[in-house]
Amino acid sequence: MTLKEIKINFTEYSEVEEMNPEDRELASEALAAMSGAYAPYSHFHVGAAVRMSNGQIVRGANQENAAFPSGLCAERTAMFAASARYPDKDMRSIAIAGGVFGRLGSEPTTPCGACRQVMAQYQTKAGKPMSVIMLGSKRIWKFERVDDILPLIFDAI
Ligand code: THU
Repeated sequence: MTLKEIKINFTEYSEVEEMNPEDRELASEALAAMSGAYAPYSHFHVGAAVRMSNGQIVRGANQENAAFPSGLCAERTAMFAASARYPDKDMRSIAIAGGVFGRLGSEPTTPCGACRQVMAQYQTKAGKPMSVIMLGSKRIWKFERVDDILPLIFDAI
């Protein structure tokens, strides 16, 4: 028997100004995307922005529904829109911002498992790392690849 360890690396910033210009731009797109949230049940507004390999940025926001499972998170709304709009381009990065009634939360909004799995698929499709930026007013986290937030990714089929 061997005890194994999985190590995760990420960067913490205390404000967006510390990030490089590309990430800063994506962060502000994610913050702006929060206004597109339709969240009459949770009142938790989430915005996401995806940067494509052609430089284009595609936004998404969470969309809720009275039949709860019919709604969709901001991240998947953004990724599916991005893939539908630019099917031949790679996704390079995604930024996420969320908070109650559209006010950015103090801690970073961390994506759900289903969204991580979808990120993993587009990263595999690209064959290149896709970074994930999670925004909060107190701190910002950047993970360089989806593997860092979804270790042991399922891609067996
Ligand atoms: N939500 C997202 O859109 N992304 C996340 O990363 C976390 C959760 C949405 C789903 C639902 O509309 C609301 O936030 C509360 O869970």
